[in-house]
Amino acid sequence: MSVTWALPFNIKINSRSIKSVSPQIYKEIHSGTLKNFKEFWASLASELEWFKPWEKILDDSNPPFYKWFVGGEINASYLAVDRHAKTWRKNKVAIIWEGEPIDNDKPKDIRILTYGDLFREVNRTAYMMKEKLGLKKGDRIAIYLPMIPELPIFMLAAARLGILFTVVFSGFSSDALAARIIDSNAKAVITADGGWRRGKIVDLKGIVDNALEKAQVSKVVVVRRIGNNTRIVNGRDYYYDELMKDIPWNIYIEPERMRSEDPLYVLYTSGTTGKPKGIVHDIGGYMTLLHATMKWVFDVREDDIFWCTADIGWVTGHSYIVFGPLLEGLTEIMYEGALDYPQPDRWVSIVERYGTTILYTSPTAIRSFMKYGEEWIKKHDISSIRLMHSVGEPINPEAFNWFFNNVGRGEVDFGSTWWMTETGGIIISNLPGYYMIPMKPGSNGMPIPGIEADVVDEAGMSSKPEERGYLVLKNPWPGMPLTILNDPERYVKVYWSKFPGLFYAGDYAVKDEDGYFWILGRADEVIKVSGHRLGTYELESAIIEHPAVAEAAVIGIPHEVKGEVPVAFIILKQGYVGDDRLIKEIINLAREKVGPIANVEKAYVVSKLPKTRSGKIMRRVVRAVASNAEVGDITTLEDEASVDEIRRAIKEFKEELNNRSK
Ligand code: PRX
Repeated sequence: MSVTWALPFNIKINSRSIKSVSPQIYKEIHSGTLKNFKEFWASLASELEWFKPWEKILDDSNPPFYKWFVGGEINASYLAVDRHAKTWRKNKVAIIWEGEPIDNDKPKDIRILTYGDLFREVNRTAYMMKEKLGLKKGDRIAIYLPMIPELPIFMLAAARLGILFTVVFSGFSSDALAARIIDSNAKAVITADGGWRRGKIVDLKGIVDNALEKAQVSKVVVVRRIGNNTRIVNGRDYYYDELMKDIPWNIYIEPERMRSEDPLYVLYTSGTTGKPKGIVHDIGGYMTLLHATMKWVFDVREDDIFWCTADIGWVTGHSYIVFGPLLEGLTEIMYEGALDYPQPDRWVSIVERYGTTILYTSPTAIRSFMKYGEEWIKKHDISSIRLMHSVGEPINPEAFNWFFNNVGRGEVDFGSTWWMTETGGIIISNLPGYYMIPMKPGSNGMPIPGIEADVVDEAGMSSKPEERGYLVLKNPWPGMPLTILNDPERYVKVYWSKFPGLFYAGDYAVKDEDGYFWILGRADEVIKVSGHRLGTYELESAIIEHPAVAEAAVIGIPHEVKGEVPVAFIILKQGYVGDDRLIKEIINLAREKVGPIANVEKAYVVSKLPKTRSGKIMRRVVRAVASNAEVGDITTLEDEASVDEIRRAIKEFKEELNNRSK
């Protein structure tokens, strides 16, 4: 069924082809979808298969705890797998998986899974979880796997049984994993004997063992990826293949009839202060948003070869590797390793090998490809690409243009989709609803149909065009969080209190004269390192665990490829000398505590940090110094000399970065 929207004028959207329109026309179309936004979303939701239809589109009786499609019964695993396995798509390829290791210029490991294969493996795994691990609806598990097919299989098997899962990115440390296991109350951990990353093996099981010294679970399942012998704790740890070997290939586990507003998963993400927040997503609303955005923003067709280069450990992978593409019955690529391993053209060879048509990647990846140069791209035929998007951080116009010209042949539709863990799916795009608005390098485009976004000032009023303000969403939308796990008050406080009634995204943005959104970056203490979201607070807490450290302030400093990198300013305790060895130790401690992604690029020892007279570190001042911005009001500052010290350190660091890139 195709959707026909009631539009303000006589345009019917019932084909999947991209049409170019002016921003003005799109704005009119868009405002038409807002008039009855609930019914509008219901028309999209009705394209999914429901076991039981909903009774109410939106329960808004207890804001901001909105519930979508209340009374409806649904199952995400059924939608992503069974629905296709029941039809001719049974033998259609769902996932083309390529492992990282290369042998004689050829990938050593390729696995092809059809929808039929996926159906069988998801059912067998669900059976195993139920019968051998004793897991049931309402239980929780943590998944700490590398990018191998078992990762989506476990997610889908859990969704099938109504088991709440939390995927922990395999670049997080044992402490970070332990904290997530504890907060989510996981009964089991699913991991592997290792994963490949840049030719090296990451000892995931070892990290799990360390985590389980702090957190308790009753079962650990170990998928064999490497063939390493790992420590097996009797009665707790089991190899996946051994658990699975006597399970018939055609076993069937009926998908649970979940309520639309039941939780599907928890995904932890960093915020301003405190420990990471467990964002909980529902099923019905989330799947509806994914369905809509797969159609509108990616314009998917039956014969597409879709490739999202993200890691499933982050929300992009949840939505646009696992649930979105499979919901649409697409063929997609899943790649295990680094995009530039063993050579910078690895990713281009993947595009060529499988004929990628839609490419979804990140500004950091694009900037690194750009650095390697276009010669690597020219080595391969990538003319299959017909649509591209980037996500995760602002994209600089230079990188945008380079990618558009060198990968998109100067003609492929390309945009920078804005969204976040909390929104569940894409919210702002250059191709917001089959309609392509003219590209503006660096901008994000406009909100998708049915979603009202705005840029507001400190008082919550719409900012004037070109004026910097805060990005907000004005209506509830399907895919929105249900809550923060175990902390509903924090959910209200973080997202719904700065501007009552509006969802505060935490980003600075401007809207231009045409109504395009330009997201400028975070307005809080979150930094984006290679697109990975890290809280400066988490890094600071790790650093101050070092016995030599008295105080620390971490900020993000612009970086040519990674977008931002963390830099720490440290005050040492008396008696310690900030020599290279100590600095290295402190930096390593952050990596150890948070994970290899928490790579503090540089740590400076300073004698003072800018503080208010009441002793609070003025991180705002540190950041302003770093970005060469006006430091602003520092009348409350205790000692202005501290600013000079930071200024000198940052100048030195920027010079160092400059020299490095030469
Ligand atoms: O600052 C915005 C930035 O990434 C943040 C969300 O991070 P995360 O929850 O990890 O989700 C990333 C992938 C969906 C946002 O608050 N961000 C994301 N996409 C863009 C972006 N900034 C600018 N342009 C984008 N396209």
